Amino acid sequence: MNFYELLTRAGKGEFLQSSEISQLLQVPDEAAEKALFAAAYGVKREFCGNYVNLRGLVEFSNICTRDCLYCGIRKSVRSVSRYCMSADEIVAAARRAGEFGYGSVVLQSGERSDPEFTGFVTEILQKISALPYALGITLSCGEQSMETYLRWREAGATRYLLRIESSDPAIFARIHPPECRFEERLAALHRLKEADYQLGTGVMIGLPGQSCEDLAKDICFFRELDVDMIGMGPYLPQNETPLGRDFPDAPGAAEKRLQLALRMIAATRLVLRDVNIAAATALQAIAPDSGRERGILAGANVIMPNVGETLHRRDYQLYNGKPDLDENAPAVREKLLTSLAAIGEVPRFNEPGDPLHYAIRTGRK
Ligand code: 5AD
Repeated sequence: MNFYELLTRAGKGEFLQSSEISQLLQVPDEAAEKALFAAAYGVKREFCGNYVNLRGLVEFSNICTRDCLYCGIRKSVRSVSRYCMSADEIVAAARRAGEFGYGSVVLQSGERSDPEFTGFVTEILQKISALPYALGITLSCGEQSMETYLRWREAGATRYLLRIESSDPAIFARIHPPECRFEERLAALHRLKEADYQLGTGVMIGLPGQSCEDLAKDICFFRELDVDMIGMGPYLPQNETPLGRDFPDAPGAAEKRLQLALRMIAATRLVLRDVNIAAATALQAIAPDSGRERGILAGANVIMPNVGETLHRRDYQLYNGKPDLDENAPAVREKLLTSLAAIGEVPRFNEPGDPLHYAIRTGRK
Protein backbone atom coordinates (compact mmCIF):
# COMPACT_ATOMS: atom_id res chain seq x y z
CA MET A 1 0.00 0.00 0.00
CA ASN A 2 1.38 3.42 -0.76
CA PHE A 3 2.21 5.91 1.97
CA TYR A 4 -0.76 8.21 1.40
CA GLU A 5 -3.29 5.38 1.37
CA LEU A 6 -1.81 4.18 4.62
CA LEU A 7 -1.93 7.67 6.10
CA THR A 8 -5.60 7.99 5.18
CA ARG A 9 -6.35 4.73 6.97
CA ALA A 10 -4.33 5.86 9.98
CA GLY A 11 -6.16 9.20 10.04
CA LYS A 12 -9.48 7.37 10.29
CA GLY A 13 -8.22 5.34 13.24
CA GLU A 14 -8.06 1.99 11.45
CA PHE A 15 -5.92 -0.70 13.07
CA LEU A 16 -2.37 -0.66 11.71
CA GLN A 17 0.07 -3.57 11.81
CA SER A 18 3.55 -2.94 13.11
CA SER A 19 4.97 -3.14 9.55
CA GLU A 20 2.52 -0.43 8.46
CA ILE A 21 3.48 1.83 11.37
CA SER A 22 7.09 1.30 10.38
CA GLN A 23 6.24 2.40 6.84
CA LEU A 24 4.71 5.60 8.23
CA LEU A 25 7.88 6.27 10.24
CA GLN A 26 10.01 5.93 7.12
CA VAL A 27 8.29 8.77 5.27
CA PRO A 28 9.43 8.65 1.62
CA ASP A 29 10.07 12.40 1.29
CA GLU A 30 9.55 15.82 2.83
CA ALA A 31 6.02 16.25 1.48
CA ALA A 32 5.03 12.92 3.01
CA GLU A 33 6.53 13.96 6.33
CA LYS A 34 4.49 17.17 6.27
CA ALA A 35 1.36 15.15 5.52
CA LEU A 36 2.15 12.79 8.42
CA PHE A 37 2.51 15.71 10.86
CA ALA A 38 -0.65 17.37 9.55
CA ALA A 39 -2.71 14.18 9.91
CA ALA A 40 -1.44 13.62 13.47
CA TYR A 41 -2.06 17.25 14.41
CA GLY A 42 -5.60 16.84 13.04
CA VAL A 43 -6.18 13.91 15.42
CA LYS A 44 -4.69 15.95 18.27
CA ARG A 45 -7.16 18.75 17.47
CA GLU A 46 -10.01 16.27 17.34
CA PHE A 47 -9.30 14.91 20.83
CA CYS A 48 -7.62 17.84 22.60
CA GLY A 49 -8.68 20.92 20.63
CA ASN A 50 -6.06 23.62 20.36
CA TYR A 51 -5.20 23.18 24.03
CA VAL A 52 -1.89 22.28 25.59
CA ASN A 53 -1.77 20.87 29.12
CA LEU A 54 1.03 22.14 31.30
CA ARG A 55 2.86 20.20 34.00
CA GLY A 56 5.27 21.94 36.34
CA LEU A 57 8.35 19.74 36.47
CA VAL A 58 10.24 19.37 39.76
CA GLU A 59 13.49 17.41 39.47
CA PHE A 60 13.68 16.92 43.20
CA SER A 61 16.66 14.57 43.57
CA ASN A 62 19.48 13.27 41.41
CA ILE A 63 20.55 10.57 43.86
CA CYS A 64 20.27 7.31 41.97
CA THR A 65 20.95 3.66 42.73
CA ARG A 66 20.91 2.67 39.05
CA ASP A 67 23.64 2.72 36.48
CA CYS A 68 21.82 3.01 33.15
CA LEU A 69 24.38 3.29 30.37
CA TYR A 70 22.88 6.40 28.75
CA CYS A 71 21.97 8.56 31.71
CA GLY A 72 23.92 11.58 32.93
CA ILE A 73 22.89 11.06 36.56
CA ARG A 74 23.71 7.33 36.65
CA LYS A 75 25.16 6.18 39.93
CA SER A 76 28.77 6.02 38.80
CA VAL A 77 29.01 9.55 37.33
CA ARG A 78 31.25 11.38 39.77
CA SER A 79 31.11 14.87 38.32
CA VAL A 80 27.59 15.75 39.44
CA SER A 81 27.00 16.79 43.02
CA ARG A 82 24.15 14.81 44.45
CA TYR A 83 21.21 16.62 46.01
CA CYS A 84 17.74 16.05 47.34
CA MET A 85 15.54 19.12 47.73
CA SER A 86 13.92 19.56 51.13
CA ALA A 87 10.20 18.91 51.54
CA ASP A 88 9.68 22.67 51.93
CA GLU A 89 11.54 23.42 48.69
CA ILE A 90 9.54 20.82 46.80
CA VAL A 91 6.22 22.05 48.15
CA ALA A 92 7.24 25.64 47.29
CA ALA A 93 7.91 24.55 43.70
CA ALA A 94 4.50 22.83 43.55
CA ARG A 95 2.88 25.97 44.95
CA ARG A 96 4.61 27.95 42.20
CA ALA A 97 3.12 25.57 39.63
CA GLY A 98 -0.32 26.16 41.17
CA GLU A 99 0.13 29.93 41.15
CA PHE A 100 1.25 29.80 37.53
CA GLY A 101 -1.99 27.96 36.70
CA TYR A 102 -0.14 24.88 35.47
CA GLY A 103 -2.80 22.57 36.93
CA SER A 104 -0.42 19.71 37.66
CA VAL A 105 3.08 18.83 38.75
CA VAL A 106 5.53 16.09 37.85
CA LEU A 107 7.87 15.01 40.63
CA GLN A 108 10.87 13.33 39.09
CA SER A 109 13.99 11.88 40.68
CA GLY A 110 16.69 9.28 40.44
CA GLU A 111 15.65 5.83 41.55
CA ARG A 112 15.79 4.85 45.21
CA SER A 113 13.62 2.45 47.12
CA ASP A 114 14.97 2.71 50.67
CA PRO A 115 12.33 3.43 53.34
CA GLU A 116 13.75 6.89 54.04
CA PHE A 117 13.13 7.89 50.44
CA THR A 118 9.74 6.23 49.97
CA GLY A 119 8.56 7.78 53.25
CA PHE A 120 9.85 11.18 52.18
CA VAL A 121 7.93 10.97 48.91
CA THR A 122 4.77 10.02 50.82
CA GLU A 123 5.23 13.09 53.01
CA ILE A 124 5.65 15.49 50.09
CA LEU A 125 2.65 14.00 48.31
CA GLN A 126 0.49 14.60 51.36
CA LYS A 127 1.72 18.18 51.61
CA ILE A 128 1.17 18.94 47.93
CA SER A 129 -2.30 17.36 48.05
CA ALA A 130 -3.19 19.76 50.86
CA LEU A 131 -2.36 22.85 48.73
CA PRO A 132 -5.39 24.85 47.59
CA TYR A 133 -4.85 24.24 43.86
CA ALA A 134 -6.28 20.76 43.07
CA LEU A 135 -3.05 19.90 41.28
CA GLY A 136 -2.76 16.65 39.37
CA ILE A 137 0.35 14.90 40.71
CA THR A 138 2.55 12.71 38.53
CA LEU A 139 5.44 10.72 39.92
CA SER A 140 8.47 9.63 37.94
CA CYS A 141 10.62 7.77 40.47
CA GLY A 142 11.31 4.46 38.82
CA GLU A 143 10.56 0.86 39.72
CA GLN A 144 9.02 0.33 43.15
CA SER A 145 7.15 -2.38 45.04
CA MET A 146 3.37 -2.65 44.90
CA GLU A 147 3.22 -1.55 48.49
CA THR A 148 5.10 1.66 47.71
CA TYR A 149 3.03 2.38 44.59
CA LEU A 150 -0.15 1.93 46.64
CA ARG A 151 1.10 4.11 49.47
CA TRP A 152 2.03 6.90 47.07
CA ARG A 153 -1.30 6.56 45.28
CA GLU A 154 -3.11 6.91 48.58
CA ALA A 155 -1.00 9.94 49.49
CA GLY A 156 -2.25 11.75 46.40
CA ALA A 157 -0.27 10.73 43.30
CA THR A 158 -2.64 10.07 40.41
CA ARG A 159 -0.23 9.49 37.54
CA TYR A 160 3.04 7.68 37.05
CA LEU A 161 5.62 7.86 34.31
CA LEU A 162 7.86 4.84 33.89
CA ARG A 163 9.52 4.57 30.53
CA ILE A 164 10.21 1.16 29.09
CA GLU A 165 13.08 2.95 27.24
CA SER A 166 12.83 0.30 24.49
CA SER A 167 10.24 -2.45 24.23
CA ASP A 168 12.81 -4.65 22.50
CA PRO A 169 14.41 -6.86 25.17
CA ALA A 170 17.74 -6.98 23.30
CA ILE A 171 18.00 -3.18 23.00
CA PHE A 172 16.86 -2.80 26.61
CA ALA A 173 19.62 -5.18 27.71
CA ARG A 174 22.26 -3.29 25.69
CA ILE A 175 21.53 0.05 27.38
CA HIS A 176 21.05 -1.15 30.95
CA PRO A 177 23.27 -2.91 33.47
CA PRO A 178 22.47 -6.60 34.06
CA GLU A 179 20.67 -5.98 37.34
CA CYS A 180 18.12 -3.82 35.54
CA ARG A 181 15.82 -6.41 34.05
CA PHE A 182 13.31 -5.98 31.25
CA GLU A 183 10.81 -8.36 32.89
CA GLU A 184 11.03 -6.37 36.11
CA ARG A 185 10.29 -3.13 34.25
CA LEU A 186 7.28 -4.75 32.62
CA ALA A 187 6.08 -6.09 35.96
CA ALA A 188 6.38 -2.61 37.48
CA LEU A 189 4.27 -1.15 34.67
CA HIS A 190 1.60 -3.76 35.37
CA ARG A 191 1.74 -3.03 39.10
CA LEU A 192 1.13 0.67 38.40
CA LYS A 193 -1.91 -0.16 36.35
CA GLU A 194 -3.18 -2.48 39.02
CA ALA A 195 -2.71 0.32 41.57
CA ASP A 196 -5.02 2.47 39.45
CA TYR A 197 -2.57 5.10 38.27
CA GLN A 198 -2.97 6.95 35.02
CA LEU A 199 -0.11 5.15 33.36
CA GLY A 200 2.59 6.73 31.26
CA THR A 201 5.49 5.13 29.49
CA GLY A 202 7.78 5.92 26.61
CA VAL A 203 11.03 5.24 24.86
CA MET A 204 14.18 6.97 23.74
CA ILE A 205 14.28 7.54 20.01
CA GLY A 206 17.38 7.12 17.89
CA LEU A 207 19.30 4.76 20.16
CA PRO A 208 22.34 3.08 18.60
CA GLY A 209 21.14 0.06 16.64
CA GLN A 210 17.44 0.95 16.86
CA SER A 211 15.47 0.72 13.60
CA CYS A 212 12.08 2.06 12.46
CA GLU A 213 10.77 -1.49 12.87
CA ASP A 214 11.85 -1.39 16.50
CA LEU A 215 10.13 1.96 17.01
CA ALA A 216 6.96 0.72 15.32
CA LYS A 217 6.96 -2.19 17.76
CA ASP A 218 7.32 0.32 20.61
CA ILE A 219 4.08 1.94 19.46
CA CYS A 220 2.40 -1.48 19.35
CA PHE A 221 3.70 -2.05 22.87
CA PHE A 222 2.04 1.20 24.03
CA ARG A 223 -1.17 0.07 22.39
CA GLU A 224 -1.08 -3.38 23.98
CA LEU A 225 -0.28 -2.03 27.43
CA ASP A 226 -3.17 0.37 26.87
CA VAL A 227 -1.34 3.32 28.41
CA ASP A 228 -2.84 6.73 29.09
CA MET A 229 0.22 8.90 28.60
CA ILE A 230 3.36 8.88 26.50
CA GLY A 231 6.58 10.69 27.31
CA MET A 232 9.30 10.05 24.77
CA GLY A 233 12.06 12.00 23.19
CA PRO A 234 15.22 11.78 21.17
CA TYR A 235 18.14 9.96 22.73
CA LEU A 236 20.98 12.41 23.34
CA PRO A 237 24.47 11.11 23.96
CA GLN A 238 25.85 12.21 27.32
CA ASN A 239 29.60 12.35 27.19
CA GLU A 240 30.17 11.01 30.67
CA THR A 241 28.22 7.83 30.08
CA PRO A 242 29.40 4.55 28.49
CA LEU A 243 26.83 4.77 25.69
CA GLY A 244 27.65 8.41 24.99
CA ARG A 245 31.38 7.64 24.85
CA ASP A 246 31.04 4.51 22.71
CA PHE A 247 28.66 6.05 20.18
CA PRO A 248 29.44 9.75 19.82
CA ASP A 249 27.26 11.70 17.43
CA ALA A 250 28.31 12.23 13.83
CA PRO A 251 27.65 15.77 12.52
CA GLY A 252 23.94 16.26 11.80
CA ALA A 253 22.90 13.22 13.87
CA ALA A 254 20.98 15.27 16.44
CA GLU A 255 18.82 16.99 13.82
CA LYS A 256 18.02 13.61 12.24
CA ARG A 257 17.02 12.23 15.62
CA LEU A 258 14.77 15.22 16.22
CA GLN A 259 13.02 14.50 12.90
CA LEU A 260 12.62 10.86 13.85
CA ALA A 261 11.27 11.80 17.29
CA LEU A 262 8.67 14.09 15.66
CA ARG A 263 7.62 11.28 13.34
CA MET A 264 7.32 8.97 16.35
CA ILE A 265 5.06 11.49 18.09
CA ALA A 266 2.94 11.75 14.96
CA ALA A 267 2.63 7.98 14.42
CA THR A 268 1.85 7.47 18.12
CA ARG A 269 -0.92 10.08 17.98
CA LEU A 270 -2.39 8.42 14.91
CA VAL A 271 -2.39 4.98 16.52
CA LEU A 272 -3.27 5.80 20.16
CA ARG A 273 -5.54 8.82 19.50
CA ASP A 274 -6.95 9.88 22.90
CA VAL A 275 -3.85 9.66 25.10
CA ASN A 276 -1.75 12.50 26.45
CA ILE A 277 1.56 12.86 24.63
CA ALA A 278 4.32 15.08 25.98
CA ALA A 279 6.54 17.22 23.81
CA ALA A 280 9.65 16.20 25.75
CA THR A 281 12.30 18.64 26.91
CA ALA A 282 14.85 16.61 24.92
CA LEU A 283 13.24 18.00 21.72
CA GLN A 284 14.05 21.45 23.00
CA ALA A 285 17.63 20.39 23.74
CA ILE A 286 18.15 19.84 20.01
CA ALA A 287 16.10 22.82 18.77
CA PRO A 288 15.93 25.35 21.64
CA ASP A 289 13.46 27.72 20.00
CA SER A 290 11.18 25.31 18.24
CA GLY A 291 11.59 21.72 19.47
CA ARG A 292 8.57 21.50 21.75
CA GLU A 293 6.40 23.59 19.44
CA ARG A 294 7.20 21.27 16.55
CA GLY A 295 6.28 18.42 18.91
CA ILE A 296 2.83 19.95 19.44
CA LEU A 297 2.37 20.45 15.71
CA ALA A 298 3.25 16.78 15.21
CA GLY A 299 0.53 15.68 17.65
CA ALA A 300 1.75 16.16 21.24
CA ASN A 301 -0.53 17.95 23.73
CA VAL A 302 1.52 18.26 26.93
CA ILE A 303 4.49 20.44 27.87
CA MET A 304 6.41 20.16 31.12
CA PRO A 305 8.03 23.49 32.02
CA ASN A 306 10.51 23.38 34.88
CA VAL A 307 9.28 25.02 38.10
CA GLY A 308 12.28 24.16 40.29
CA GLU A 309 14.97 26.60 41.35
CA THR A 310 17.83 26.97 38.86
CA LEU A 311 20.20 26.01 41.69
CA HIS A 312 20.20 22.28 40.93
CA ARG A 313 19.52 22.39 37.19
CA ARG A 314 23.16 21.70 36.21
CA ASP A 315 23.24 18.60 38.36
CA TYR A 316 20.20 17.12 36.63
CA GLN A 317 21.54 16.79 33.12
CA LEU A 318 20.33 13.43 31.90
CA TYR A 319 21.84 14.41 28.56
CA ASN A 320 24.05 17.15 27.15
CA GLY A 321 22.42 20.32 25.90
CA LYS A 322 19.66 20.54 28.48
CA PRO A 323 17.83 23.82 27.82
CA ASP A 324 17.01 26.64 30.25
CA LEU A 325 19.82 25.87 32.67
CA ASP A 326 19.78 29.41 34.00
CA GLU A 327 16.20 30.43 33.32
CA ASN A 328 14.06 30.74 36.42
CA ALA A 329 10.50 29.48 36.46
CA PRO A 330 8.78 32.81 35.56
CA ALA A 331 11.13 33.30 32.59
CA VAL A 332 10.48 29.74 31.41
CA ARG A 333 6.73 30.42 31.65
CA GLU A 334 6.92 33.70 29.73
CA LYS A 335 8.88 32.14 26.89
CA LEU A 336 6.53 29.20 26.67
CA LEU A 337 3.35 31.29 26.55
CA THR A 338 4.75 33.44 23.76
CA SER A 339 5.82 30.47 21.68
CA LEU A 340 2.49 28.67 22.14
CA ALA A 341 0.59 31.76 21.06
CA ALA A 342 2.75 31.89 17.94
CA ILE A 343 1.48 28.45 16.84
CA GLY A 344 -2.15 29.16 17.74
CA GLU A 345 -2.22 26.86 20.76
CA VAL A 346 -3.78 27.76 24.10
CA PRO A 347 -2.43 26.66 27.48
CA ARG A 348 -5.09 24.99 29.56
CA PHE A 349 -4.73 26.83 32.83
CA ASN A 350 -5.88 25.53 36.22
CA GLU A 351 -6.94 22.14 34.89
CA PRO A 352 -5.27 18.90 35.96
CA GLY A 353 -5.65 17.74 32.34
CA ASP A 354 -6.37 14.06 32.87
CA PRO A 355 -5.99 11.93 29.75
CA LEU A 356 -9.32 11.14 28.10
CA HIS A 357 -8.05 7.61 27.55
CA TYR A 358 -7.97 6.89 31.28
CA ALA A 359 -11.56 7.98 31.80
CA ILE A 360 -12.69 5.76 28.92
CA ARG A 361 -10.47 2.80 29.88
CA THR A 362 -11.75 2.79 33.46
CA GLY A 363 -15.36 3.42 32.51
CA ARG A 364 -15.45 6.79 34.24
CA LYS A 365 -16.64 8.52 31.11
N1 5AD B 1 19.04 11.07 26.26
C1 5AD B 1 17.72 11.18 26.22
N2 5AD B 1 16.91 10.85 27.22
C2 5AD B 1 17.48 10.38 28.34
N3 5AD B 1 16.95 9.96 29.49
C3 5AD B 1 17.94 9.60 30.32
N4 5AD B 1 19.12 9.78 29.71
C4 5AD B 1 18.86 10.25 28.47
C5 5AD B 1 19.67 10.61 27.37
N5 5AD B 1 21.00 10.50 27.39
C6 5AD B 1 15.51 9.84 29.70
C7 5AD B 1 15.13 8.39 30.00
C8 5AD B 1 14.46 8.47 31.36
C9 5AD B 1 14.02 9.90 31.43
C10 5AD B 1 13.79 10.43 32.79
O1 5AD B 1 15.07 10.60 30.80
O2 5AD B 1 14.20 7.95 29.02
O3 5AD B 1 13.38 7.58 31.51
